[in-house]
Amino acid sequence: VAQTSRGQGQETSGPPRDCPPEPPPEHWEEDASWGSHRLAVLVPFRERFEELLVFVPHMHRFLSRKKIRHHIYVLNQVDHLRFNRAALINVGFLESGNSTDYIAMHDVDLLPLNEELDYSFPEAGPFHVASPELHPLYHYKTYVGGILLLSKQHYQLCNGMSNRFWGWGREDDEFYRRIKGAGLQLFRPSGITTGYQTFRHLHDPAWRKRDQKRIAAQKQ
Ligand code: BGC
Repeated sequence: VAQTSRGQGQETSGPPRDCPPEPPPEHWEEDASWGSHRLAVLVPFRERFEELLVFVPHMHRFLSRKKIRHHIYVLNQVDHLRFNRAALINVGFLESGNSTDYIAMHDVDLLPLNEELDYSFPEAGPFHVASPELHPLYHYKTYVGGILLLSKQHYQLCNGMSNRFWGWGREDDEFYRRIKGAGLQLFRPSGITTGYQTFRHLHDPAWRKRDQKRIAAQKQ
C-alpha cells in the first residue's frame, strides 16, 4: 500500500479529501519510538471495493502517523451465504497468527478523522474507538460496533465472537455480553472534542441495502 500510495515516479492529484498527509518513510518503522506492539486491523468485507480504495490508504497513513505498527487484513467473504461479520473477524484473528498482539475489529465504511483518537495497545481492557458519543449514527450505551480494539489475550478470554449471526446486526451486541461475561472493563475515548465529526461514515443506505431479515427470537 505504501508503495502504491507514494507512487513510483508518477504524478497524482494528491491524497483524497479527508486523508491525513503522507506517512513518514517506511524505514522509520525500524525506529524504537514505534513501540513493540503490533496491530492486526481486521476488516470484514464483501463487494465494497470502492470503499476499500479509500479505507486502506487512509488507515495506513493514519496509523503510520501515530507510529502504530500495523497489518491490514481484508477478510473477504466469497461464498453466497448471508454476510457473517463475526465469523470473518474470527477468521482474521486466526489468520493474523503471532506476528500481531492486538486486533481492531474495523468496519470498512468508518474512517477516523481525528488524530487524537487512541489506537494503541489496549492493556487494561477492550477499547471502543467508535464510541456512542462520537459515532455519527449509533448512540446507545452498550454499542461496541464500528471500531473496537482488543488485545488478543482478551479476545481469547471472550472466546472470540459468535459465528451464529448471519445477515446484518446483533453480533456486536452479543459481543458486548461476552466482554461483560469475561469480567472485562470496556474503555472509550476521552477528551475528544470533535463530537459526531470524529469519523467519516461512508455508508449510503439507498445504495447499500441492509440484510435485516431476522430468524425467530434471534434477539434473545
Ligand atoms: C444492531 C447492531 C448495530 C447497531 C448499529 C443495532 O440494532 O444490533 O449490530 O451495530 O444497531 O447499527
